[in-house]
Amino acid sequence: MLEQRIELATRTDVTPSPHFPRVRPRRMRRSEPLRALARETELSVRDLIYPLFVVHGTRVREEIASMPGVYHQSLDVLQAEIDEITGLGIPAVILFGLPAVKDEVGSEDYAERGIVQEAIRVCRRVNPDLVVMTDVCMCQYTSHGHCGIVRNGAIDNDETLRYLGMTAVSHAAAGADVVAPSAMMDGQVGAIRAALDSHGFTDTAILAYAAKYASSFYGPFREAADSPPKFGDRRQYQMDPANAREALREVALDIEEGADMVMVKPALAYLDVIRRVRDQFDYPLAAYNVSGEYAMVKAAARNGWLDEQKVALEIVAAIKRAGADMILTYFAKDVARWLA
Ligand code: PBG
Repeated sequence: MLEQRIELATRTDVTPSPHFPRVRPRRMRRSEPLRALARETELSVRDLIYPLFVVHGTRVREEIASMPGVYHQSLDVLQAEIDEITGLGIPAVILFGLPAVKDEVGSEDYAERGIVQEAIRVCRRVNPDLVVMTDVCMCQYTSHGHCGIVRNGAIDNDETLRYLGMTAVSHAAAGADVVAPSAMMDGQVGAIRAALDSHGFTDTAILAYAAKYASSFYGPFREAADSPPKFGDRRQYQMDPANAREALREVALDIEEGADMVMVKPALAYLDVIRRVRDQFDYPLAAYNVSGEYAMVKAAARNGWLDEQKVALEIVAAIKRAGADMILTYFAKDVARWLA
């Protein structure tokens, strides 16, 4: 009896079929056309948003040391840049400005003729179809380098909201399509929505930096934007890198306050957060492939340690696979060329 059972088991379960293994995933990897048919994530130039750093002056085009290929540019030079971006098929830019002077309340942030406001007008003029986004924050504009108004050595959340509202309105008035608050103040999306609406800018969209982490990957950007805080750090307002559930609460709040799109930032070390936001919310999702992520690839490539093109494409595709609909990346122009 026992022997019989053993024999049966041997015949049905254990004896390898002459054609084992029956399931062979490698069949679909045999050639590029087969792989292309089965491909789940397709990167497109249409997904890309290119960050630009604009400065005062004329004929300024200075490469940022820690971000090879990325420049500080004056408005007269910006025209050629926009033409190039347009020619590559990149649909959107996000503008960051370096003011002529910084002060306690970041006056140039919301000045009618501020550097970003003027850059928006240049973009509009050169290519009316370009989606013009702006970063709405205070750190580049304040003498202390914090993202808000400082009172008694601390960042005053509610006072800052007023300034962020004014800044967003000044960007909308200059022609921005999308304003992207990145100060991580509580209520910033609601305050900006209210300010925009009360000034008649009901069509200006908000891309909320909803889950923005207190990340060390912003290092090169802070050099580029001259925006490191002069005292303390940003951990009292930006998120703790250890937290993912909290990101879902931040996203829910921003949607409630009127965000049209939400963002996770940085991207690469936070792919799990991108995935969770994608699964939980049906809103357009952006991810910011930040300066440090770019600088690492550039540095390794310069040393001959990585293949820049392959690694950059893999990273951007991974961010999309994780669930991002759009990607802010300093690789945008390169990716556009590589995909062409
Ligand atoms: C402004 C802002 C920062 C970045 C985008 N907007 C810097 C910061 O929060 O310190 C970082 C972008 C990058 O690293 O590429 N608050």
